[in-house]
Amino acid sequence: MNNKSSIQMTVLYDNNPYEERLELDWGFSCFVEGLGKSILFDTGANGQILLSNMEKLGMPPEKVDVVVLSHAHRDHTGGLEDILTRNSKIEVWLPYFFTSDFKDGVRKKGARVVEVETFRKICESAYTSGVIEGWIKEQSLVLDTEKDLIVITGCAHPRITNIIARVKELSKKDIYLALGGFHLAGFDKAEIKEIIDKFRNLGVKKVGPCHCSGEEARILFHEEYKDDFIEIGVGKEIKIQ
Ligand SMILES: [Fe+2]
Ligand SMILES: [Fe+2]
Repeated sequence: MNNKSSIQMTVLYDNNPYEERLELDWGFSCFVEGLGKSILFDTGANGQILLSNMEKLGMPPEKVDVVVLSHAHRDHTGGLEDILTRNSKIEVWLPYFFTSDFKDGVRKKGARVVEVETFRKICESAYTSGVIEGWIKEQSLVLDTEKDLIVITGCAHPRITNIIARVKELSKKDIYLALGGFHLAGFDKAEIKEIIDKFRNLGVKKVGPCHCSGEEARILFHEEYKDDFIEIGVGKEIKIQ
């Protein structure tokens, strides 16, 4: 794994506020530029909200080369159809277990389906974690940067620490940043603190919990990570030089 240009990530869909002129909604989507290809990771719940946020940020769907879908929940896949209506020259990387109806729907739009099972390269500097086992299986997006790996998660249903440990094991690299839904809403303080300890043990340098991470977890991660906590909300941009 090697890389080398600057990478920009923009959160296009989230239920946490950041950029006031964008619409908030339950779900997650993040656009990554500066790789071999431009990747849209997840598509939020509603295509009209996604497209409107993209337009306000000057990021037309025509710029998207690849869509990676973390898992089959609607708050991550709901915007896909509208994206494909605007741009069908997209490869859609989805976990193999998506229904054939879903896959056929993507193909009918003229897009190419890539079924993911294991860790593999998507394009220069970008990888899928492969399907990670759990009560709901999921794939994450892994970016190989000058500053070690960035892992972007959808809902982290297989548990965020399992995902990070698995990515480390598969890539043999360290984690610079974990960003996205950590799925910790409803966890109590002690459980969240245990998870934060695991993050430290796994050597995760920066964190950006959003979407389904829960307010309590965001507060506790912030307390522990201080300046290495990135406040994520819709419209947040992160640049890695
Ligand atoms: Fe989910
Ligand atoms: Fe979700």
